[in-house]
Amino acid sequence: MKNNKTNKEYDWQKGMDPNDIFSNIGKLMRMNISYGRDDIVGFPGTTPLNIAECVYAEYLGYHANNIGLHTTGNDKEVGFGGTQTAEEEVIAMAADLMGVTLEEVDGYISSGGTEANFMGCWIGRNSSENPQKTALLCSSLTHNSITAKTVDILMNRDRKCLKLIPTDKSGHILVEKMIEAVEVSINDFDNFVIVGNAGTTMLGSVDDIPRMSFALGELKKIYPHKKFHFHVDAAFGGFVVPFISNIPHIGFRNHHVDTITLDAHKMGLTPYGSGIILSRKGLFARTSTKAPYFPGADASFSGSRSGASALSTWAAMKYMGKDGYAKTTQRLMKVTSEIKCILHNNGFEIFKNDINIIGVKGSLPRWIQKDFRVHVQESFPENLSHPENGKIISVWNIVVMNHTKPELIEKIISQLKRKVG
Ligand SMILES: Cc1ncc(COP(=O)(O)O)c(C=O)c1O
Repeated sequence: MKNNKTNKEYDWQKGMDPNDIFSNIGKLMRMNISYGRDDIVGFPGTTPLNIAECVYAEYLGYHANNIGLHTTGNDKEVGFGGTQTAEEEVIAMAADLMGVTLEEVDGYISSGGTEANFMGCWIGRNSSENPQKTALLCSSLTHNSITAKTVDILMNRDRKCLKLIPTDKSGHILVEKMIEAVEVSINDFDNFVIVGNAGTTMLGSVDDIPRMSFALGELKKIYPHKKFHFHVDAAFGGFVVPFISNIPHIGFRNHHVDTITLDAHKMGLTPYGSGIILSRKGLFARTSTKAPYFPGADASFSGSRSGASALSTWAAMKYMGKDGYAKTTQRLMKVTSEIKCILHNNGFEIFKNDINIIGVKGSLPRWIQKDFRVHVQESFPENLSHPENGKIISVWNIVVMNHTKPELIEKIISQLKRKVG
């Protein structure tokens, strides 16, 4: 939205009265959406748990700084032992979701999935002595935090290092194409960072992580002088997939998985600022740097981080328990099925879904996009098995979160029919 304010209105020479501050913030917040009230269709966020919000607010004033990693046993910033321990316990619970114990992993609470994905790929890129000769392989459905940002920052900017692997028509990486993509470029690169998705942003498709992991094991045997790193982006699916029985394990029980992103601030129901990155024990040594003013070294990307966020994430996960997340997942999957039925009965073409995200083919009129918060991707590859053949279609999606009601989809459909009819 264009802000037509004059410079005078930006003036802040004199301090503002707290009453005026609150009244101004009230006005600002009326410009924001509200998950409970508004028509939010495709957005991977929802109201955080009340307990998480209360803990965050209560302990924000302590201004605890969780800089660094708290799972490595290295020297830590002094004075924040409580919030560092809370974070270590969050990492232990996240590790458990991903099939292992704290002894087997390191990790930290990042600003979000973007940073966590960057961190995972950074660790992967640095596994080689020649990081410039790194290729990144993933499907065209991979989040732009990897395909755009990470590639731009970490890899050669000509983007020739980015190899898009075809998927089936529901968005799952074709493992034989992944092997082919490695073999075709084996002489051009020393290091291969491979990304599997456990919940793509638009379709919610979950790659076959066990098969990808097995294939990587075989590639390591065939090409022992090359490096391979397997990162799983479970930013959305990390708190859902472990509770869906027909999806194979996406975590560290797959031997060749090295790093995993799972965001608490999506399906973990915590406030923003709580992405999680996990690695197999010791891998963070590859990104460790010494800060002269800070005891020990820091291997995280962040720098100063909120200790209150660690407490709030800890509170949310303890409050829900695995049973609570399992129940939420079951309820949301039921709502997802109901919405699929409605779409199907009204002639919409939908993608086969694995989790609580439904991709719908076709465009939506602009006026619908104003009334409802919908994510529409207008550059979606028409043919996912040849994503680079140039043909594109529009796809929009429904991200079924706690606030999503089937009636919302009925409302969109009836408005569409009224306008057309
Ligand atoms: C699959 C996936 N990965 C990463 C991200 C980025 O997460 P964040 O917005 O927390 O940085 C998203 C965001 O929607 C996502 O869907």
